[in-house]
Amino acid sequence: MKYLLKKAGKMNKIWSGRVGSNTDNLADKFTFSLKTDVKLYVYDIIGTIAYAAGLKKIGIISKSELIQIIDGLIKIKNNIEAGRYPENDYNYEDIHSLIEFELKNEIGEAAGKIHTGRSRNDQIVLDEKLYLKDAVIQILKSLAELQSGILEFAQKNITVIFPAYTHLQKAQPVLFSHYLLSFFEKFSRDINKLFNNFNESDLMPLGSGACTGSGYAIDRKYLSKLLKFKGTACNSMDEVSNRDYFQDFIYNLSCVMLHLSRFCEDLIIYNSNEFSYIEIADEFCTGSSIMPQKKNPDILELIRGKSSIVAGNLVQFEVMQKGLPTTYNRDFQEDKGIVFNAFNETLSSVIIFKELLKNIKLNEDKINKSMERGFTEATDIADYLAKKGETFRNSHNITGKIIRFCIENDISLKDLDLKTLKNHSQYFDSDFFEKISLGSCINAKITDCGTNSKSVNNNLKTAFLRMQDIQKEIEKLKSRVPDINSLMEEIKNTPD
Ligand code: ARG
Repeated sequence: MKYLLKKAGKMNKIWSGRVGSNTDNLADKFTFSLKTDVKLYVYDIIGTIAYAAGLKKIGIISKSELIQIIDGLIKIKNNIEAGRYPENDYNYEDIHSLIEFELKNEIGEAAGKIHTGRSRNDQIVLDEKLYLKDAVIQILKSLAELQSGILEFAQKNITVIFPAYTHLQKAQPVLFSHYLLSFFEKFSRDINKLFNNFNESDLMPLGSGACTGSGYAIDRKYLSKLLKFKGTACNSMDEVSNRDYFQDFIYNLSCVMLHLSRFCEDLIIYNSNEFSYIEIADEFCTGSSIMPQKKNPDILELIRGKSSIVAGNLVQFEVMQKGLPTTYNRDFQEDKGIVFNAFNETLSSVIIFKELLKNIKLNEDKINKSMERGFTEATDIADYLAKKGETFRNSHNITGKIIRFCIENDISLKDLDLKTLKNHSQYFDSDFFEKISLGSCINAKITDCGTNSKSVNNNLKTAFLRMQDIQKEIEKLKSRVPDINSLMEEIKNTPD
């Protein structure tokens, strides 16, 4: 790599005319962001190739210069991918400077033209928006797999009845599949938000320049087409100070993590010795260094822990922007570390959670036992009386007394006889025991959002179909992300 041939020591910054090259080493080190923003190299290179084609279109660079620039940029891309770049050289302020300097080393003076009418302020927005497209697609893919996993788990256990909780107290019987579908809904909303995130951000920033626009007649529609944006951003001042695409992204990631965290918390409880509703395969558990008997659900706990980190990232991102004066400020440089972290934590959490879910077995014996003395049928007893003619308030009261009677006498509902029941209300009849069987309680929740088997079956079917659509939508998004090959093809097809 040519940079290796450069003299050791200071070199001129891209902005050295005014400030001079003698910035303090501490200043160089402090302002240096290459370690983080090198992750954007491919987007910076794609953006720069497209921009060079744009400059060629308006006659600022010649055809042969364009070819040289593209060749040079591809070489730089290969070098970075092979790890041949000065990752610790503070002279290279950021990824944009690195690429411009390296291009000069590769092709000489023509490199000096690529920044005509462009600023790092609009360049970074472009890089970030291109990164975002890839990142959203990756998260969407992982979420789609998680959703399919949830649906398969629900399908496999479609008839299992277990207790629904409120206040972490047993509430009512519910189909386990209905419970699982509740998380499917939460993640579906996250998926929708991520699609929106992609669409809302899909406006091309170049031409904004430093803040007031470009002094060159850049064909923005052409650049937009080359880079596969759906349109162009319309206000230069807004665009160089716009970080809403990332703000929304971190918010969306934090929602995913929040939902995962709540799911994890449930599973940690259900996995506890006291509940033992589920068993997590050994492959997804850890042990204790001192207590030989322990099998701990650390992965679930870590996801719960990481959700706080991503929620913190959201706050970091908001606070970073709060009170910034209009347009670009260097504070923005801090945005990347925050977003990359939120993305990595969320992606790895979704991926491992999806695997862990496949490795959970329901312990139906324990669940059934827990249902026996849970009095989760109480609402159905009250409904039974109310449907026979009692007011619901009276029914509630009568049922409460019956439950107290059972607890005081250490018996369960099925130990009651009709005579005792009739002492509480004349409305009790021989159909009572059938009406409060767990299956009847499930099917008595007749609303289409409720746990009755018919609705759950329908909702599950619809959910499977929805996932097929989502997969197709994700595929469509892929065609809206530029890559070097598609870009080169587009450039080749541009008339001279
Ligand atoms: N690396 C910077 C960032 O991430 C972009 C450079 C803009 N620098 C500047 N001095 N205007 O925001």
